[in-house]
Amino acid sequence: MSIQSETAIYDSLAIGQAAADQQFFDARSANSFSDEPVADDVLDAIYGAMKMGPTMMNNQPLRITWIKSPEARQAIAGTMPGSNASKALSAPALAVLSFDTDWHEEFENFFPHAPERKDMFQDVEVRTTVGNNNAWLQAGYFIMAVRAAGLAAGPMGGFDSKAVDAAINADNNHRSFLVVNVGKPGENPWFDRLPRHDAELATRSV
Ligand SMILES: Cc1cc2nc3c(=O)[nH]c(=O)nc-3n(C[C@H](O)[C@H](O)[C@H](O)COP(=O)(O)O)c2cc1C
Repeated sequence: MSIQSETAIYDSLAIGQAAADQQFFDARSANSFSDEPVADDVLDAIYGAMKMGPTMMNNQPLRITWIKSPEARQAIAGTMPGSNASKALSAPALAVLSFDTDWHEEFENFFPHAPERKDMFQDVEVRTTVGNNNAWLQAGYFIMAVRAAGLAAGPMGGFDSKAVDAAINADNNHRSFLVVNVGKPGENPWFDRLPRHDAELATRSV
């Protein structure tokens, strides 16, 4: 752990120091990756862990596209500015995170005890906001699941989502919002750690 004021946190976290370091204190957003491939079993495990994170009414709007073919990877990278493109081309695994704008169509599956509540989401603006917000929440779980698999995540918002949707979401109603590089860190993978807000700034008790 490099943030001295957080030393005391270990004593209060039930997951233990090694897991706390893996998930939070040593985990970084990687900017370069090694060639070591990520097995499909591991990608499945990342989804299997990620999906357990809570969402509103259990709605689970996130949809993941694992980018495997060289053509798809090139199409995604081609929508990105310089350094993001080279990161997307170098990472051994690439995930495009989208949300399903028609997530409410699964209501019977994810909320089987009260499927009639689907009617609350007929309004497209409400549905889009709720879907986007909860998919972002799931994106956070996704990053933590990547870390739990012993890998580094490199989230990137810098891409043209309309172009990505044209490339991979043309046959559905999903909208991309984040690309995440996944793999073992490569050479010089980290920028300097940027400061985090102290609790005094970011929290209060009333
Ligand atoms: C939503 C989101 C979007 C990001 N977009 C980019 C990006 O387009 N390009 C990039 O190089 N890094 C991007 N990052 C990485 C952040 O700069 C990085 O996570 C942050 O500085 C913390 O770094 P650390 O995890 O190493 O402490 C993004 C991160 C997040 C969570």
